Amino acid sequence: MNYIGCKYKLLPFVYDCIHKITKDDKNITTFCDIFAGTGVVGSYFKQKGYKIIANDLQYYSYVLNQQYIKNHTTLLFKGLEEEIPLLRNTFFDENKTDIVCNYLNNLEGVAGFIFKNFCKGDKKDDEDYRLYFSDNNGKKCDAIRQKIEYWKNNNIITNNEYYFLLATLLENIDKVANTASVYGAFLKKLKASANKSISMTPAKVIINKQEHRVFNEDANKLIRNIETDILYLDPPYNQRQYSSNYHILETIAKYDNPTIIGKTGMRDCSNQKSMYCQKQKVKEVFSDLINNAKTKYIFLSYNNEGLMSFEEIKQIMEQRGKYGFFEKTYSRFKADKESENRHIKANQTKEYIHYLIVKNEK
Ligand SMILES: C[S@@+](CC[C@H](N)C(=O)[O-])C[C@H]1O[C@@H](n2cnc3c(N)ncnc32)[C@H](O)[C@@H]1O
Repeated sequence: MNYIGCKYKLLPFVYDCIHKITKDDKNITTFCDIFAGTGVVGSYFKQKGYKIIANDLQYYSYVLNQQYIKNHTTLLFKGLEEEIPLLRNTFFDENKTDIVCNYLNNLEGVAGFIFKNFCKGDKKDDEDYRLYFSDNNGKKCDAIRQKIEYWKNNNIITNNEYYFLLATLLENIDKVANTASVYGAFLKKLKASANKSISMTPAKVIINKQEHRVFNEDANKLIRNIETDILYLDPPYNQRQYSSNYHILETIAKYDNPTIIGKTGMRDCSNQKSMYCQKQKVKEVFSDLINNAKTKYIFLSYNNEGLMSFEEIKQIMEQRGKYGFFEKTYSRFKADKESENRHIKANQTKEYIHYLIVKNEK
């Protein structure tokens, strides 16, 4: 998923830094990704054999992490064999996720909450409407979302199967969203990718032997109740609130018929405003997190354009042990709006991994 601050491209860097510092410690089993977002960092460490704790304030992220982190065995969809007889006849268990996704792909669309609020429908061109999805994709999203909920409410699918299907829907609906990248605005006309029909490509289940834990809490609250060997921190770097930028994914994940307002159909997310996005609050919450962590090692991803300065981070972290950092120059491409041609121009940021070998463990 195209997600603000996603570490997908930086995974080898993140892993190498963490490995360099922790490789001689043979008593490390748990890795906590407390600002987990898409779950790519936790997934990477899960595949390296760690026991993962993942957490995020956003519910759509909780869904993704239930799927990528918590799910660790093959999903069999036993309860669906009557409705989808093909499930009984397939020889390979691994094919069952494809069969169920294919079945959902072929459902007849339904005019539900997403279609009614985030598609044009039968509105005239000069009327007000939101154009986040094509009519076809809005209706298909509603049909699939309602079916998944029906199966869950009637105990036809397990919790693991439920989160797998929801995560699959979230990732695939995001691919056909009519936005520039986030949900803070929609495009005036349907772009080519938004005109394509949603296709339920199954999310990959990472099979391994460990049990993992996933939470949907404020990091500063959760930190008081968990213990881990490695704590990885990837908080927001700037004022952009994830709750506003991904509000439609939250609405699809919760499917709770929220009251929505304004041009973008924003749900009330006052209880999901992150203090890590607020210049006046960020140092206080970051320091609280560091001071309350029950862990041996802390690693923080942050760049040189974030709300906290390099020095501020260093000062807060070195209070609890041996501090150091790694850095990497990162090329970011963005549209140059000043130029007449709106050409793409590269600009560079410095991506840091600050680390702390905790001396005064709690
Ligand atoms: C930079 S993103 C993490 C990206 C993630 N590492 C990835 O690769 O996808 C920051 C995440 O922190 C979450 N977040 C913000 N404030 C939080 C808080 N107080 N507690 C828990 N999660 C929070 C946001 O919802 C967002 O998903």
